[in-house]
Amino acid sequence: MTTASTTSPALSADPLQLIDVDHVRFYVGNAKQAAYFYAHTFGFRIDQIADLTTGSRDEADYLLTQGNIRLLLTTPLNDTHPAAEEIKLYGDGIKEVALTVEDAEAAYNQAIANGGVSAQKPRTIEDDKGSVTVASIQAYGRMIHTFVSRTGEYSHEGLRDGGMFMPNFKKHNSPLNDYNEQHPCGLMFTDHLVGNVEEGKMNEWVKWYEQVMGFKMFKHFDDADISTEYSALMSKVMASGNNLIKMPINEPADGVKKSQILEYLEWHNMTPGVQHLAFRTDDELATVAELRRRGVDFLDMPDTYYEKVWDRVNTMLKENGHEVVKEDHTRVKDLGVLVDADDEGYLLQLFTKPLQDRPTFFIEIICRRGSQSFGKGNFKALFESLELEQERRGNL
Ligand SMILES: [Fe+2]
Repeated sequence: MTTASTTSPALSADPLQLIDVDHVRFYVGNAKQAAYFYAHTFGFRIDQIADLTTGSRDEADYLLTQGNIRLLLTTPLNDTHPAAEEIKLYGDGIKEVALTVEDAEAAYNQAIANGGVSAQKPRTIEDDKGSVTVASIQAYGRMIHTFVSRTGEYSHEGLRDGGMFMPNFKKHNSPLNDYNEQHPCGLMFTDHLVGNVEEGKMNEWVKWYEQVMGFKMFKHFDDADISTEYSALMSKVMASGNNLIKMPINEPADGVKKSQILEYLEWHNMTPGVQHLAFRTDDELATVAELRRRGVDFLDMPDTYYEKVWDRVNTMLKENGHEVVKEDHTRVKDLGVLVDADDEGYLLQLFTKPLQDRPTFFIEIICRRGSQSFGKGNFKALFESLELEQERRGNL
């Protein structure tokens, strides 16, 4: 017999408790071609499509999957679709980071009660197989967060197992999907995603994630830690209550030359947005080797980087009682992979160049061996490399 004081778990649960990153939506000029790019270069499966043939008259959507990553590429089919204006302003880029919750309407109501601004009121898309409820709030710049809850054949568990995304999507077959199955790239899930906001606005958005989304500050880098002579930024990392997703927020800081954050903003209509998505792999070297073979364009590191890195990283690991980097040091250098360590362990990471002609959005490939940080020790080396790229583009 239960006692009267027992509260129902449904009633006591926090509506903003996140279950998963449901999907990340890009607005792109040509989803059919962009899908091929992400499938070919990063090994994503083009799993499902909604377009004119499924009765979608306003937009075409391509769902790309790999591990527990779901990218949704959306292209407008007419000039009144909101994506048409955004593509004009920003080029291709991330519009939405959607988060799976128990009850999307309850999460939305809580976020609004916490001071959030609505981007789209709750609506349910359903058929006889199940339903998907979505509701969105406005985040920094062009970005929105959408809460998603799912039932029936569209359940979260089903989706993770390759089930259907939403009513009116159809499964897609392609020889490229078969090829990717035979040549896996090893991307498992979204480790973190980084937003760029305007100078002086970082703390405002830190507060917003705390108040509206119930996030907590995870790490803090000050200006001196991560600036070079020419580029400077400030960054604070926000994490969801259960550490499911981490969202560092950058703002430009003063430097002798132009900050990479300011370069992003200038090519993004001075509007904040997502700078990069980091995907987790268990085997950095195998993943980077496969992505390089497929033609992914990664940032080049200065040769001098590898003269210093092993001493820096392995000394730190030994001082903290950890094993040294187990990956073959020569292969790490040959593949141009970056390594960093903190008191908890080490990580391997590498950054692509921007994935569109505007120098805006890029992808990071990260493998964690204990370290929960973001590669602070690589920032200086990275910025020197970024500045070289900025100089080549005439933007420094
Ligand atoms: Fe990152």
